[in-house]
Amino acid sequence: MTPNSQLDLLFDPSLIPSTIQEQLGPDLHLRPLASDDHKRGHFDVLSVLTAAPSLSPKAYKENFDELKACAQTYFIIVIVDVASDKIMGSGSVIVERKFLRAAGLVGHIEDIAVSKAVQGKKLGLRIINALEEIGRVRGCYKIILDCSEKNIPFYEKCGFKHKEFEMVRYM
Ligand code: ACO
Repeated sequence: MTPNSQLDLLFDPSLIPSTIQEQLGPDLHLRPLASDDHKRGHFDVLSVLTAAPSLSPKAYKENFDELKACAQTYFIIVIVDVASDKIMGSGSVIVERKFLRAAGLVGHIEDIAVSKAVQGKKLGLRIINALEEIGRVRGCYKIILDCSEKNIPFYEKCGFKHKEFEMVRYM
């Protein structure tokens, strides 16, 4: 595993609760996305979710830098297998500033993905717990997400409730 100190991280790792790292144990490392995580299988993990064609290292870094420049907005976390230095799971919370609710903040959970080989071992739950805590510490008054019907039981286990409907128009 590459130590945090040698990585260009998307956000301050102290925002990730140490209790969740303890629950994961010493073989898995939970940290913010790093600017060179393309080489640790980030796209392989994302591909369990949807089409995720890999970017060149240069394009990956440019995208990373663009997200990082939006201060206190993009929080992408990864779970890395320490022995292989490969990403096993990933997820994001995007913090949106509103005018309503006294310029309140809403967290949007997106792109939760756990490598097929390690699904069912609570990695998804730990990712959601960590993202929720990041949102809470940042001051979000709620956290929302869209999911397919088959994932509703997973999110209910994570403490979410069904509300509203999603609409979409592809461009
Ligand atoms: N149906 C019913 N229960 C489920 C399901 C499911 N599809 N998935 C997980 N659970 C339950 C587990 O049994 C467990 O329950 P328990 O506490 O009683 O044992 C609990 O939810 C936690 O499950 P985890 O082990 O943490 O789940 P996992 O690590 O496999 O992650 C995830 C779940 C993220 C859905 C994973 O299966 C995955 O990557 N799927 C493919 C990609 C995907 O669909 N991502 C979500 C897209 S929605 C979004 O990104 C906002």
